[in-house]
Amino acid sequence: MAEVKASLIAGVVLAFLSSAVLAFVEDLDDTFKDTRVNDIWLVDFYAPWCGYCKKLEPVWYEVGVELRSSGSPVRVGKMDATAYSGMASEFGVRGYPTIKLLKGDLAYNYKGPRTKDDIVEFANRVAGPAVRALPSKQMFEHMMKRHDVLFVYVGWESPLKEKYSDVASELIVYTYFFSASEEVLPESMSLPELPAVVVFKDGAYFTYDEYEDGSLSSWVNKERFQGYLQIDGFTLYELGETGKLVAIAVIDEKDPTEENGRLKALIQRVAKEYREHFNRDFQFGHMDGNDYINSLIMGEVTVPSVIILNTSNEQYFLPSEPIETMEQLVQFISSVLNGSAQAYGGDGIIQRIKRVAFDARSTIMSVFRSSPLLGCFLFGLPLGVISLMCYGICTAESDDGSDDIDSLKREGLTDEEEEEEEERQRADELGGPDDGENEEEDVGEKDPEVKKTD
Ligand SMILES: *[C@@H]1O[C@H](CO)[C@@H](O)[C@H](O)[C@H]1NC(C)=O
Ligand SMILES: *[C@@H]1O[C@H](CO)[C@@H](O)[C@H](O)[C@H]1NC(C)=O
Repeated sequence: MAEVKASLIAGVVLAFLSSAVLAFVEDLDDTFKDTRVNDIWLVDFYAPWCGYCKKLEPVWYEVGVELRSSGSPVRVGKMDATAYSGMASEFGVRGYPTIKLLKGDLAYNYKGPRTKDDIVEFANRVAGPAVRALPSKQMFEHMMKRHDVLFVYVGWESPLKEKYSDVASELIVYTYFFSASEEVLPESMSLPELPAVVVFKDGAYFTYDEYEDGSLSSWVNKERFQGYLQIDGFTLYELGETGKLVAIAVIDEKDPTEENGRLKALIQRVAKEYREHFNRDFQFGHMDGNDYINSLIMGEVTVPSVIILNTSNEQYFLPSEPIETMEQLVQFISSVLNGSAQAYGGDGIIQRIKRVAFDARSTIMSVFRSSPLLGCFLFGLPLGVISLMCYGICTAESDDGSDDIDSLKREGLTDEEEEEEEERQRADELGGPDDGENEEEDVGEKDPEVKKTD
């Protein structure tokens, strides 16, 4: 008994000592380049002055604790990218915070929401094997339940399998990849040819066809979402990366009238019934409320309505008349596809100027919102001085500064909208998602998802 007790105490002391030696989050420096090689690392590259990095800190600690306690082989570290800027740029760090998983000579960027669960899931997915085997029917069914979109390689060793592994090791940042033998799949399935790459989604399965679908990696990239989704700012950004156009029903979920539900159902039906026609070029979904879309297009869409976005060039398309029927919707989508629909917006020079003005206004509004006094001081004082000067020069009647501010406010937006604006604007600066978790203080262009390092 005493022995057990003694060894228990020893164990506790040892555990305590080892955790003291090996912190949950390790502080990294210059030596990291040499010491990292044999391990898988999840690293937060931060800058001491960056607010979003500070917000990430407690989350990062939790990530460290969770990965350690679950026995994951992933080591968690953080590096002051301003102190070790040479190292940081070698890893392609261009904004703060940057989260990367380093595995061998590959570096995977994390771009999802900065929550513990999301980051831990990412680390476990990417650190594990690129292709995971599904050895039994039970395993297959279990995974079918867990994943809305499931990629499976079916068959034996082949050049296609090698290609699949390559694609998997690159795109594992987005989704899981599995392999199975034909016996594991449902009996009802009949694949015309083996080996094959199949995606299970939307209650059906679709097979990769080299001749029709182009490269395997672009096919996977396009098929990694369900055909129909609820869309928010973050998903819209992710969908954009597939290069597809996004057809969205803008609706008010809280409004119980038939109109909203009908439009949503129409888009859903088109997504399913016209999959053959449109799946290659379109992603479908609905969005609750028009705030996000409005700030995106710097205009106003009615609710409910349909809009098609080309996220590659920031153009958008609106139906010439409200959509009532399936035929009208299909017509509208076809007209966008064959280029006969009128395009609005875009990323031309005029749109950019408009964006700058739009963002400047949002910035002013957000300064007023977070600190009215500072706003008055920054914008009111100069206006007041100018007004006084005008008064002096012209001896004409003149507004004082606060009136100017009021009118600015009046032509501006309501509080709630401002919030959206602000987020949208942040997303814009990012060129990225805006779930409010994802801000990044960018210091240059984005790097590709996976980057070879040496
Ligand atoms: C969407 O934008 C891309 C990039 O500019 C362009 O190549 C493509 O033709 C556009 N699609 C449509 C339907 O306008
Ligand atoms: C494009 O598609 C629309 C809708 O199907 C059709 O009315 C129109 O004639 C087509 N235009 C061209 C140039 O093919």
